[in-house]
Amino acid sequence: MADFTAELLDADSDGILRAATLLREGSLVAFPTETVYGLGADATNDRAVAEIYAAKGRPSFNPLIVHLPDLESVEQFAILTRQAREIAQAFWPGPLTLVLPLKAESPISKLVTAGLETIAIRIPAHPVARQMLKHAGRPIAAPSANRSGHISPTTAAHVLGGLGNRIAAVLDDGPCAVGLESTIIDACGSLRLLRPGGVAVEDIEQRVGPLETGAVVNGDAPNAPGQLASHYAPNARVRLNATTVENDEVLLGFGGTPHAELDLSPDGDMVEAAANLFEMLHKLDAMGRPIAVAPIPTHGFGLAINDRLSRAAAPKGT
Ligand code: TXA
Ligand code: MG
Repeated sequence: MADFTAELLDADSDGILRAATLLREGSLVAFPTETVYGLGADATNDRAVAEIYAAKGRPSFNPLIVHLPDLESVEQFAILTRQAREIAQAFWPGPLTLVLPLKAESPISKLVTAGLETIAIRIPAHPVARQMLKHAGRPIAAPSANRSGHISPTTAAHVLGGLGNRIAAVLDDGPCAVGLESTIIDACGSLRLLRPGGVAVEDIEQRVGPLETGAVVNGDAPNAPGQLASHYAPNARVRLNATTVENDEVLLGFGGTPHAELDLSPDGDMVEAAANLFEMLHKLDAMGRPIAVAPIPTHGFGLAINDRLSRAAAPKGT
């Protein structure tokens, strides 16, 4: 991972353009939203998205929120149901995130959606964020811009304190107005509250009626193992720490494993391995044979990779 000092960018037109350019180049840029500062990366760039997890030191690949400048751009990536459209029109732009069905052939990195067939989307109201998103011209994945396990940042100084030597730049527009993360609603079917946040639940219910509750997510915490429905699981049986290949298995290698069908990173680079993880699992799954996975180191970023692999290998229906 790069070790450098983040550029501190003023939120004027030069700063906003610089932030957009860095994002297009695949760098990490923290930016203000009305809720908290986000740690942005090009959501179509596997490697840039992997760098988010590395910079945050996240213990697992929770799916990320994709930020867009306007409602028109949402339909390139997601399907808006009637109810989703109703909430979107009422509360976007704003501190609201909607989980929606992912459009087929979407260019979004599978690392953003953690291999799920849904995508979390938010149109922030912050004018600086929206201008930056417009200039970037691509979807921007962004969790809160803090190290994993630390609280969400509401000033550029908070961001620099945690991530100053791990990201390219921070776009500084002073403190965030809301200071609390967005409300997340699953709008794939009947509307369900996933995380309370910047839009009051009462205000949403007043427009669309009662929300279902029950499966609340928590920013950086790994999802409970019981919540298997919210994790990507291949159809194929997955066997971990495989040192031999049995029967008709296909082998997913790491660091140049002999006889591997695909190798997460022939050079043993953890960031590259993370960037390839979901894409390669999907490819192997499509071959319709059981998948064997070579041992992956558990140091550093490897912990997150192993966490996701063990979820993929967990028996289904538990
Ligand atoms: O206010 C916010 O929402 C901030 C700003 C930067 O936009 N972002 C933020 O991101 O709080 P993060 O990564 O800290 O929290 C995102 C939450 C996680 O709990 C994740 O599990 C959930 O969104 N999430 C993302 N995609 C999902 C999906 N497809 N299904 C269910 N939950 C999802
Ligand atoms: Mg967070």
